[in-house]
Amino acid sequence: MAPELTPILDRRLVIVTGKGGTGKTTVAAALAVAAARQGRSVLIAEVGGQEQVPQFISPGHPPVGYAGSELIPGLTSIHIDPHEALAEYLGLQLRVRGLVDLVMRNKGFAQLLNAAPGWRELITLGKVWHLAQMQDAGRPRYELIVVDAPATGHGLTFLDVPRVVGNAVRAGPLRGHAHLVEELILDPEQTLLLPVALAEELPARETAELVQRAQSDIGIAIDRVVVNAVAPPPFPPGVPDDLDTRLHAIDDAVALGGLPRPSVLATCASYLRARHQLNAGYVEQIRRDCDRPLVILPYCPGGITGAGPLADFAEPILAAGGLPA
Ligand SMILES: Nc1ncnc2c1ncn2[C@@H]1O[C@H](COP(=O)(O)OP(=O)(O)OP(=O)(O)O)[C@@H](O)[C@H]1O
Ligand SMILES: [Mg+2]
Repeated sequence: MAPELTPILDRRLVIVTGKGGTGKTTVAAALAVAAARQGRSVLIAEVGGQEQVPQFISPGHPPVGYAGSELIPGLTSIHIDPHEALAEYLGLQLRVRGLVDLVMRNKGFAQLLNAAPGWRELITLGKVWHLAQMQDAGRPRYELIVVDAPATGHGLTFLDVPRVVGNAVRAGPLRGHAHLVEELILDPEQTLLLPVALAEELPARETAELVQRAQSDIGIAIDRVVVNAVAPPPFPPGVPDDLDTRLHAIDDAVALGGLPRPSVLATCASYLRARHQLNAGYVEQIRRDCDRPLVILPYCPGGITGAGPLADFAEPILAAGGLPA
């Protein structure tokens, strides 16, 4: 039986991460939409890269940028650009807008930034921390913040920066801020890292490494792993399991009433079976290597866009335990 998991909607911060193209943005968007539909006030924060979340949730929606915008009732989306976050941070520190513009446009400052590793990560996470502190009438403005984090590799560096900065800087506001961010990220009651994997060789291996390193190097909580785009059983209920073999056995000259030749249908059926078997094998490998309950999400031809389909897609993620493979 799967261990009891804290319901995902009881967290403050869910950081969705994984290798490039595994479905991080889809999963983050799905989770955020589902939470908003359950009445939570939700923020989805897309970090770096091209802004995609508004298109996934409300196709045709214009970019929301750093200012953010409400996409559907209860769900605000923002795209965090580190330069804008830095300008905002400096504004809070220096309190004079003109001075901030001056600093940001200064060539020496730009060179300093290029030479300073980790400022993007720290400032981005600082922005997330700041958003998590925002209150309206004594209640958190955002009950749940979902972060669509950069791809793994970058993803873990991203989370490790507060610790590194906190250790490297002995005093001053930067150390204080790094400490606050680290405190939020490492609080298992509040923050969850949600890895998204594909049931294929490389992503499976990288996910196991991610889970291991997230635990040993950073100490952030991971209580489940999402395995996305898993091919469903090859044939619908009622269709014989050996459909591909049976199709292979039919003489190719047999006419199937306008359908492709039996050998073509046999190849399609064999492909579906092979895909399902390959995915099923790697699901088991991920389960073993990650030692966590898995949430299996199906392959959906054409992807998943729009609030309704995304909310349905998120249902297994919201369920308390892992789903059987
Ligand atoms: N379960 C699924 N079934 C079918 N297509 C999917 C599924 N999940 C995601 N996709 C599609 O796969 C593509 C990549 O998904 P997505 O953009 O969510 O991945 P990502 O991990 O955020 O990628 P990147 O690393 O580039 O940011 C998209 O076209 C998306 O619609
Ligand atoms: Mg993405």
